Amino acid sequence: MAPDLRLEPWSDGDLELELRGNTAEMKVFLGGEEPADAIVARHKRFLELPVTGAGQMFRIALPDAPGVGSVGYWEREWQGEQVYEMGWHVLPEYQGRGLASAAVRLAAAHARTHGRHRHAHAYPKVVNGPSNGVCRKAGFTLLGEADFEFPKGTLIRCNDWRRDLRVAAGMEVTQASGHEV
Ligand SMILES: CC(C)(COP(=O)(O)OP(=O)(O)OC[C@H]1O[C@@H](n2cnc3c(N)ncnc32)[C@H](O)[C@@H]1OP(=O)(O)O)[C@@H](O)C(=O)NCCC(=O)NCCS
Repeated sequence: MAPDLRLEPWSDGDLELELRGNTAEMKVFLGGEEPADAIVARHKRFLELPVTGAGQMFRIALPDAPGVGSVGYWEREWQGEQVYEMGWHVLPEYQGRGLASAAVRLAAAHARTHGRHRHAHAYPKVVNGPSNGVCRKAGFTLLGEADFEFPKGTLIRCNDWRRDLRVAAGMEVTQASGHEV
């Protein structure tokens, strides 16, 4: 059965969720634990996304748990095209029950409705099994491998997954919970 989750627009109180996700375990494929000021800076960028129209970040909420992870999209240039990049995390105690892939489908539906670009990309490290699994389950197509800079100054070997936001219109509502965002 599809998970009963909803997406809430990122708000000031969600800094705490980002800080909770800043553990060695959660950041094993993302360069390790981050300094708190890097998290605060990213949180501010998340808050700015809908203000500038560049994207939207969400908190993933369950009926009995208001914050179990995050998902969202933001603009970037990729190989000469303006696209969305998507990113996500789900706290360890909530992993393995389809939450991330359902949340990504809902966020992609939001990008299709409210966004201005046709394609969303995701760049999980080649060795990040769960995140590559999320891409596969959430309707992305694997284009190949690419070198990607993350964090700044470090090149990592990633998969380039792309989702055509115009395809599969309407599918997300039945695939996830029906809570539109
Ligand atoms: C990636 C992450 C969000 C996945 O969350 P989740 O809610 O457990 O994901 P889902 O349950 O929706 O789907 C994960 C899929 O990957 C599969 N998977 C898990 N580990 C895997 C592995 N090592 N190799 C291949 N597939 C794997 C799962 O089996 C599942 O597919 P299935 O339902 O068909 O079995 C979570 O692990 C996380 O937050 N990781 C840390 C942060 C991170 O790496 N974010 C991504 C940055 S690119």
